[in-house]
Amino acid sequence: MNATPSRIYLDNAATSWPKPPAVYDAVDHYQRHVGAAAGRSAYRDSTDVAAQIAETRRRAAELIGAPRGRSVIFTCNGTESLNLALHGTLRPGDHVVTSASEHNSVLRPLRYLHDTAGVQVTVVPCDHRGLIDPDAVAAAIRPETRMIAMIHASNVTGAIQPIREIGCLARDHEVLFLVDAAQSLGHIPVDVQACHIDLLAAPGHKGLLGPLGTGILYATPEAEQRLRPLRQGGTGTNSENEIHPCVYPDGFEAGNLNVPGVIGMLAALRFLEHPGLDARRKHEQELTRQLIDGFSAIRGVTVLGPREASSQVGVVSITLDDYDPQEVAAMLDATEGIQVRSGLHCAPRIHAALGTRDRGGAIRFSTGPFNTSDEVHRAVHAIAELSAAGPPS
Ligand SMILES: Cc1ncc(COP(=O)(O)O)c(C=O)c1O
Repeated sequence: MNATPSRIYLDNAATSWPKPPAVYDAVDHYQRHVGAAAGRSAYRDSTDVAAQIAETRRRAAELIGAPRGRSVIFTCNGTESLNLALHGTLRPGDHVVTSASEHNSVLRPLRYLHDTAGVQVTVVPCDHRGLIDPDAVAAAIRPETRMIAMIHASNVTGAIQPIREIGCLARDHEVLFLVDAAQSLGHIPVDVQACHIDLLAAPGHKGLLGPLGTGILYATPEAEQRLRPLRQGGTGTNSENEIHPCVYPDGFEAGNLNVPGVIGMLAALRFLEHPGLDARRKHEQELTRQLIDGFSAIRGVTVLGPREASSQVGVVSITLDDYDPQEVAAMLDATEGIQVRSGLHCAPRIHAALGTRDRGGAIRFSTGPFNTSDEVHRAVHAIAELSAAGPPS
């Protein structure tokens, strides 16, 4: 089901492609025939759009197991969701426990809050697979700890973290639990109640299969009480009041929403129901296993991470002896139209733990629901050919 046969897209961890056809149709229909803003007017097109936005919130909340009646805040990407969660809840003197597996969209806001607002940060290490030890998280908790901020699945090794155990720690110590679900939502089960998650941040454009420019943040009532909006402005409500309403969720979405994006996300969320998560996960695991087994058999290739399809999402990173990762990615694209991401993947600390930080990082292959076994076979074959040929002199 590859839309462009000459292109093999294996960069779904950056953003998923292709999207389900219904997503393109929904965005196109909205742009051409509707085009109305939401929550600002009483005419029918606008109220129809408002109803679709409400349905998107409800479906996204259901997908993450949120209790009935809870909804999500729309953002423009995973980074904005994480920034809202971190800047919106942390205050001077607070302490945060995070991990070496995090993406820069957690590490950088925390560094900024440390430098500008005196927020204290402890980064617990990860092992050679990128996994975090819950005991290390427990040992880092202090009386002034306000939050544990953890990635659910690594964007470098695919490693699925023990977030349920970490969530129990957060609950027992009464600290907020923020989970970065950028690489897990849409790929593996995410249940905010079972894992005691207070804040869940995710893009809408990766595993959820929505358009770029979409993201979500879920908050429990406790987290919401601390949450402050990062921007003020029009919400379509309380217009007589110059004080910005901190009302959940609209108060956190000042200004016009990215309606085409949200409408596209709605189509994606409907699509995700059929085939359901089990079927998608089965397909993802088959492709992951094929990548791991195929690469492991090639001389000069090191496969990073758990190397176990059931312990990771569809992200497999490798190094190839004597090759610079950027060079490999460029050659794969030039010779075979295979599109992958190389380098540090905005996650420098995990690359340090893997020993790849000072070697230019790694070459990452990340699958989506529309990738085929044949595409994976061609990617593995292309790496085998590069290994056999050796780097250009
Ligand atoms: C683990 C992780 N967190 C956060 C992000 C940021 O998401 P976005 O690109 O939607 O801002 C990414 C993006 O690659 C990611 O992999």
